[in-house]
Order: sequence, then structure tokens, then C-alpha cells
Amino acid sequence: MKIQVPENIASIIPYPPGKPLEELEREYGISDSIKMASNENPWGPSPKAITAIRGALDNLHRYPDGSCYHLTQALAERYGLVAEEVVLGNGSNEIIEMLVKAFVQTGDEVITSHPSFLMYQKIVQGRAGMNKVVPLVGMQHDLATILATITDTTRLIFLDNPNNPTGNPIHPTELQAFLSRVPESVLVVLDEAYVDFMDSELQCDIVSLIRNNTGCGVVSLRTFSKAYGLAGLRVGYGLMPSSLVASLHKVRQPFNVNQLAQTGALAALQDEDFYQQTLQRTRTGLNYLQGEVNKLGCISYPSQTNFFLVDVHGDATAMYEAMLHKGVIIRSMKPYGYTTMVRITVGTEEENDRFLRALTLCLGELAYG
Ligand SMILES: Cc1ncc(COP(=O)(O)O)c(C=O)c1O
Repeated sequence: MKIQVPENIASIIPYPPGKPLEELEREYGISDSIKMASNENPWGPSPKAITAIRGALDNLHRYPDGSCYHLTQALAERYGLVAEEVVLGNGSNEIIEMLVKAFVQTGDEVITSHPSFLMYQKIVQGRAGMNKVVPLVGMQHDLATILATITDTTRLIFLDNPNNPTGNPIHPTELQAFLSRVPESVLVVLDEAYVDFMDSELQCDIVSLIRNNTGCGVVSLRTFSKAYGLAGLRVGYGLMPSSLVASLHKVRQPFNVNQLAQTGALAALQDEDFYQQTLQRTRTGLNYLQGEVNKLGCISYPSQTNFFLVDVHGDATAMYEAMLHKGVIIRSMKPYGYTTMVRITVGTEEENDRFLRALTLCLGELAYG
């Protein structure tokens, strides 16, 4: 075989998913491990989603509804949009991919922050687009430098709001001021994967931005993977002007959201109890963990999400490894340039205590402080 791999593909570093629990247990010969690394919902899927999915199993010999009719309608209704302003994806990841496929051609520029969600740059690279990367300042998107980085060939700007990994939001007034200065030819993608966890006064009025922004185009990406507990099903959605949705339909696969995913997401959307409990328990867990981590001498950073950064005052990857040996999976932020920080996802009440016990032991073993 003599297959030439194009340079833009050869140089992609594959996305590093959080270590699966089964793999950890096999490798380290342990059991009962916990994962607080991938910002999932630790309380499981919405019970209503499980019931609905069970009821849909007999129909798996049929292709799913390629238009995701019922889920699209339900989302449009929820936001006061029309169905033509909503697009569904195999996770919001797929919508990132569709946006790049539809609007970025070889050599076109896409602006992202560093660090931010890793997939933006990989997808742009896969498309032979040009990544323009603007470092965060004070762990926040540097909107002024992003504006200064825009050129005639800039097509997209990805802003995760709140940012992953820092958990920091963009203040709505700053966002508004920023958007008013972005040229009309540029599309600003607000990746709102964690929007559900934000304080309401920090959430922007996305419908008005999509419909009334007079300058650049604005897109919101949201997901069922976090607050709705359906990461394993892979369902995300985009809210955007209908002309953009029409372009995305041209580049997506015909049955991109599978039947169980559509059924489960629709039921989860209507499971208000589960959703509200998740938000409340996440907030309580976050406050508790941050307080306890600080008591151990670490520094926890504020977050508007279901995860937060902790400075452990020592090598982050060594801490990650030490925690693995205790059966607790977290994320080292060393690859993101935060050499002494780890990222922790809020767990169940028991998981949070287990994490704290393991952290106490590891801080001692590694003599951090
Ligand atoms: C900021 C951000 N955007 C998008 C995603 C992808 O989410 P999904 O599961 O909907 O593909 C993630 C997942 O962790 C994320 O952190």
C-alpha cells in the first residue's frame, strides 16, 4: 500500500478522551474506580429517557427520522424559534464539524482561544483551514485580541462560553460589544455546552442574538451530554438563522442522529425534575468540593460549569497518575499549559468524598504544598 496521508491530516493529534473506567481497572488491577474527568452528569441519564428508549427498541430495524422532526419541534418551541432555526447533530461535536465543512475552505482562517475545547482546531486542520489561536488572558477569552486577529479570510470564531477548561463565562455586555464589532462576513459560534449550569444573569439572550444581531452571524451550540445526562447517546443541537441551518443540512449525513438518541433526548427535554435536580446538586457539589480543596491548601478557581480547575502546587500529570492509582480519574491540565492544575468534574456526593480522600493521600505522597 502506498497511500499518501496529506500533511494537514498527518499532523492532527487525536482527541484524548478521558480514560474509560474499564481500562483503568484492567490496567491497574483495581475495582470500584470513579471518573471525574469528562464533565458528564454523574447522576445517570434522565429516568424518563431510559423509559422512552426501552419503548423504542422494537423499531430499530427502521432508519431514524432524518429530519429529527419531533425533537426539532420541541427545541424550537422551547426557545421560541421556528424549526428551520434548529439543527440536530451526533453530539454538538458533529455540528462543529458541519459548520467547518459548510463554511471553511482550504486556507480560510478560523479563530479559537487557547486553551479551549480541543476539537475546534482539529476539525479546522482536517479541513485544511488555517487556525489562528489567541491565548486566554487571565483565563478569559481575549476578545480585544480576537477582534484584532480578524482578517478578510476569517470565516469562523469559536468561543466556548463558559470556556472549557477554565469554566469562565463571557459577560453578556462584553459579548454584545464584541459582536457589534465583528464584520458581517464572519460567523461567531458560541459553544454553550455548559450553559445550563451558568447563573441566569450571565446567560446571554441567545434568541435575540441569533435573530437581531445586525452585524456578524451568531450560532449557539448546545448539548444533551451534560445537564441532561445523555453523553453516551450523542445528541447536540445548534440554534442559528435559518439560512445557516439550510447550509448545514447540505453537508450532514442523512440519518446523523440515531433513533434512540432522538427518543431519549425528547424525553429528557421533558424531564424537568431530573434537569433541575442535576443543576441544584451540581451547584452544591461544586461549592462543597471547592471549599474542601481549598482547606487542603490547593487553590480552586471559580467556575460556571460542572467542572473546575484546581492548582495542586506540583506537577499536574504526576497528580493525575497518583489519583489513577487510587481509582479516581481526573484531568491533568499540563497538556493545556497549566502545569500545576487539574480539572475536576463534580461527581455524586459519594464520589466527591472519595475524590477528597484520594486527593488528601496523593498530596501527602507527592509532598505538594
Ligand atoms: C466546550 C465543549 N463543547 C462541546 C463539547 C462536545 O459535546 P458533545 O457531547 O455534545 O459532542 C464538549 C464536551 O466535553 C465541550 O466541553
